[in-house]
Amino acid sequence: MKFFIDTANLAQIQEAHDLGILDGVTTNPSLMAKEGIKGEAAIMKHYEAICELVEGDVSAEVFSTDFNSIIEEGKKLAAIHPNIVVKVPMIKDGVKAIKWFTENGIRTNCTLVFSAGQAILAAKAGAAYVSPFIGRIDDSNWDGVELIAQIAQIYSIQGFKTEILAASIRNALHIVKCAESGADVCTCPLDSILGLLKHPLTDIGLAKFLEDAKKM
Ligand code: E4P
Repeated sequence: MKFFIDTANLAQIQEAHDLGILDGVTTNPSLMAKEGIKGEAAIMKHYEAICELVEGDVSAEVFSTDFNSIIEEGKKLAAIHPNIVVKVPMIKDGVKAIKWFTENGIRTNCTLVFSAGQAILAAKAGAAYVSPFIGRIDDSNWDGVELIAQIAQIYSIQGFKTEILAASIRNALHIVKCAESGADVCTCPLDSILGLLKHPLTDIGLAKFLEDAKKM
């Protein structure tokens, strides 16, 4: 399973990269706004900076919701760097745009996916990635990880090549469960990635080893 970081914060991207386990980055308008990025020129410049930090795919989301505008916006984003993947929402014009991008050699990440039916449509349109939102499904009193397993089973039976990118990850256990359920990629906040490091028995065991090492 590949690890993407779900942020537009350059320091956090650098920290995950330095850990040696980072395969890519996902962003969305909320994450870009959180970093104070405003205006087309600043957006383009920020994506360039992210692409310089990491070697893998970087998802850049369109703000438009009609077919022609999605295409125009997506073409500009894709021109920034070969690793840019255009992130398109799961709406009717979004599906049409994903099909157009696929036919024109531009890779896409279909976002805001909350059902297996939506995941089938994204794959049929040729999306490189599909992003089911695990945490938001959990918030609505349903099981987000179950959706990952269901999509993985459908894609395997049907031979779809779209990669399952588990999104809206809230903790380290989500990452483990997504790996177990067949996600190809997990996009996570830095805290959730670092949460994988933690176990109290590791801390206790290390303290004992360090204490005994002094007797050697
Ligand atoms: C990433 O592709 C998604 O936009 C992101 O994971 C959504 O996460 P959230 O539900 O924590 O906002």
